Amino acid sequence: MPKSCYIHIPFCSGGKCKYCSFVSFNKSELITGYIYSLLKEISDNYSGETLKTIYLGGGTPSLVSAELLKKVIGKFNLADDAEVTTELNPENGNYDYLKKLREIGFNRLSIGSQTFDDELLKLSGRRHDSEDIIKTVENAKNAGFNNISLDLIYGLPTQTTEGIIKDLDKFLELGIQHISTYGLKIEKETFWGKNPPENIPDEDIQADMYECINERLTNAGFYRYEISNFAKPGFESKHNLNYWNNEEYYGFGVSAHGYCGGVRYSNYCTLEKYMNNPSSHEYGKFLTEQEKLEEEIFLGFRKTEGININRIKEKFGIDFEKKYRSVIEKYSDYIIKTQDGFAFNLKGSMLSNEILPEFLD
Ligand SMILES: C[S@@+](CC[C@H](N)C(=O)[O-])C[C@H]1O[C@@H](n2cnc3c(N)ncnc32)[C@H](O)[C@@H]1O
Ligand code: SF4
Repeated sequence: MPKSCYIHIPFCSGGKCKYCSFVSFNKSELITGYIYSLLKEISDNYSGETLKTIYLGGGTPSLVSAELLKKVIGKFNLADDAEVTTELNPENGNYDYLKKLREIGFNRLSIGSQTFDDELLKLSGRRHDSEDIIKTVENAKNAGFNNISLDLIYGLPTQTTEGIIKDLDKFLELGIQHISTYGLKIEKETFWGKNPPENIPDEDIQADMYECINERLTNAGFYRYEISNFAKPGFESKHNLNYWNNEEYYGFGVSAHGYCGGVRYSNYCTLEKYMNNPSSHEYGKFLTEQEKLEEEIFLGFRKTEGININRIKEKFGIDFEKKYRSVIEKYSDYIIKTQDGFAFNLKGSMLSNEILPEFLD
């Protein structure tokens, strides 16, 4: 049974950020009712096994009071060394709140910092500034958090590689343990999808930014353990590694996805449908062996260590090297042989979206 769990908190206050396509609603008056629906879903669908990770994402989980979050976390049996993460927006990072989060069992924070450039934060519709990021990290440390991740977006309108370097320097000054980096994607349904901004860095500039981030963070003692995630040794996100290792996990809450008992499922995406019926999934599908194999390959190649061919042999009874020889040879400039299997080199990671579909049947 799953050992990890994702919980979605679909609320944001003050409107949508201009790039955001996540499921979130500006309806904080519904938070309490939503949490009670969530508690019902967990009661009905969680089998009681010991979990090694919980991750609260959003939306903005930090809009929910520590008292309500305690009720949610209290539903689970946790391993002694469980990783319990919540996303936190920098405008909500006051000391008292962080202290309570720490007391109720959260031990990892993922802070949606994005950039230290106040103009860019404003342009993107964010509700925080660079001072909020600094204060939040300081408060988090004082509250007892020693596993803190910051998100960095690159490729924002007018952003330059020099700007990214300045951001990275500021990130590094804060003495955090993990950084997730995201190249800006503009989806159709977002504000910027409908109102395209000017001066978006093109693909080549985004690629330069990615290389620059990789170099700078590697020199600062971070390890790129996944395409866009960097950690100080020992601070890799256990929760995300569970996804990339193609292990099962629960997904609770509006629009959450899960993978339990061989079934990939997703929950209702509207508050009304979910709150009327929190324990049923909108969609579910038993994966075929071929689909499971393809997911193992797609997810495994996201990790810097790549895929493990013995594990693939054990799980699927196939000889990876033999089955995919033509793809491996075609991309020999981008795929390297490792001790346990195969992995992308840095250029391969940058081209992963083009290479990976070649592994589909
Ligand atoms: C689950 S999201 C949002 C977390 C939180 N609500 C926030 O905005 O800070 C996690 C991260 O994905 C990144 N992200 C969201 N939308 C993106 C987009 N369109 N392009 C690139 N990165 C994006 C941001 O860095 C964000 O912090
Ligand atoms: S705070 Fe995060 S989830 Fe909310 S609108 Fe902004 S990017 Fe989307």
